[in-house]
Amino acid sequence: MCGIIGILSQKTDAPDQVVEALKKLEYRGYDSWGVAIGGKYIKLQKNIGKISQAVLVNDTTGNLAIGHTRWATHGGVTQINAHPHTDCLEKIAVVHNGIIENFQELKKDLENFGHKFLSQTDTEVIPHLIEEELRTEEDFKTALVKSVAKLKGSYAFVLIRANSNELWAVANGCPLVVGQSENQLIISSDILACKTKKVIYIPEETLIHIADEIEFSNLETGKPKNLKWEENKVENHEITPGKFKHFLEKEIYEQPEIIKKISQMDVREVETNAALIRHSFGTFFVACGTSYHAALAGEYLFSQIAKMHINLISAGEFANFRHFITDKTLLFPLSQSGETADVLEAAKVAVKCRAKILSLVNNPNSTLARLSDVVMVTPAGPEIAVLSTKAYTSQIAILYLLANAVAGDFAKAQCDLENLSEMLKTIFENESVEKLKKLAKKIKNATSLFTIGRGLNYAVALEAALKIKEVSYIHAEGFAGADLKHGPIALIEKDVPCIVLVSNDENKEEILSNAMEVRARGGFIIGVAPENNEIFDYHIKVPDFAELSSIINIVPMQLLSYYLAIARECDPDKPRNLAKSVTVK
Ligand code: G6P
Repeated sequence: MCGIIGILSQKTDAPDQVVEALKKLEYRGYDSWGVAIGGKYIKLQKNIGKISQAVLVNDTTGNLAIGHTRWATHGGVTQINAHPHTDCLEKIAVVHNGIIENFQELKKDLENFGHKFLSQTDTEVIPHLIEEELRTEEDFKTALVKSVAKLKGSYAFVLIRANSNELWAVANGCPLVVGQSENQLIISSDILACKTKKVIYIPEETLIHIADEIEFSNLETGKPKNLKWEENKVENHEITPGKFKHFLEKEIYEQPEIIKKISQMDVREVETNAALIRHSFGTFFVACGTSYHAALAGEYLFSQIAKMHINLISAGEFANFRHFITDKTLLFPLSQSGETADVLEAAKVAVKCRAKILSLVNNPNSTLARLSDVVMVTPAGPEIAVLSTKAYTSQIAILYLLANAVAGDFAKAQCDLENLSEMLKTIFENESVEKLKKLAKKIKNATSLFTIGRGLNYAVALEAALKIKEVSYIHAEGFAGADLKHGPIALIEKDVPCIVLVSNDENKEEILSNAMEVRARGGFIIGVAPENNEIFDYHIKVPDFAELSSIINIVPMQLLSYYLAIARECDPDKPRNLAKSVTVK
């Protein structure tokens, strides 16, 4: 995981530029941050905590610097485990994203050769390996290539050396992008950190050397790679929460407008992609986290509207089903970031099997978008809060359009989404919001909470529980109404909150029966439904639109999660232990 950056500048502002860039990469992890400044000696600064609060101390000028923002994988969240990591003599400093799978055996060997390790990270083997190679190899590039040949795993790293005005980097399964402006050369794990007009997305197995010139070569053969500059299409304007206190709140409130935009999507794009789905011999949704819940909602929508079964597989499990993938299969990955390692891995399996890939992403410049044959983009705009909200409802809205287009009813779906956009606004009316705030205060000390739904509300139940646990750290679990009695009901005792998602559809009576079963055991029933019911201890009123309940019912749950975070004094935008984009398997 993690965000990495290296800058070679004609001015002496490289360290400050690195810190600025790290703020853009923080979504990749915010356990700790660190910077190494080049020069005669390498100067290191590392700290635990968020980069937004970072200040460099002492002499911070220099024209060469690398930086890192960490999401801990190997080793706890400590200053010592923060990157950059160095060799014994602090002559090589490395920032790394990804995982070195064989680091334990490499570390043992290196320790036997006398190397002293300071951290528990896998990263630290990289500078020590190079240091070891340099004992017998004069040429740095050769020593670097020989070291990399010993590494197993997916990774990207950037390094600097003392007394040398150059950056070296390796891309092997994790993204890197190079940017060039008049007075700077930048290498980073994300284009967001490149404010340059020209960029190159680095393909896998590439060694990069940045000095006066940039050279790209094949990691194995050493042969030069001829990579072309392209225009940087990412708008790099500052993003602020505006009138809202937090990005999470702002992004929740943006949803009606985004749904309206989706209702106006180009009919040809949707119908062409609907035809792809209709004609494939097996379509597989793959996704993780919130995007997986959107895909689950999609599975129900396609079943109900298009009368089609779409296979749904958690992206990290997809490789286990590769025997069913042929050149006639359609892989349909959903991903806000387009950088989730498990999703990329699934896409690579599909590429190997020569299946077609139609992806749905919020970031059109992502690695997933570049791996796909066809890309649909959710018009949600940048999603900054770690919790996915507007990207989630946008994914479902687009799936709704696609399912209806497969059924030959695109125009109806457009009209439905336009109406939905208006209906959603009622959830943001003062009275409804106050009721959610009051509920948050009432249940904020719960140690456990359950959410249940059936049919389209099953995905809502899972997503609502995920939102609540991610941001308020209350233990929350979502279930299909039918499943509660097969075990989890043992956990219901007096006053345990149970959120019951009810729509005016064929599941209504049964989900209300499930709610009664919970109530009979003392549970506190929170009904999310168009009408109140005597079973509910607390009622959250939602607009009555059963076909789109996957979107309608999640919005008050997103708001509830936000108010729970506020009531429990948690950071709504950057919850502990999480990262916006999970770039390790
Ligand atoms: C991480 C994030 C989740 C997100 C999931 C999938 O786990 O914390 O919020 O839903 O990744 O991300 P993606 O970018 O692929 O949708």
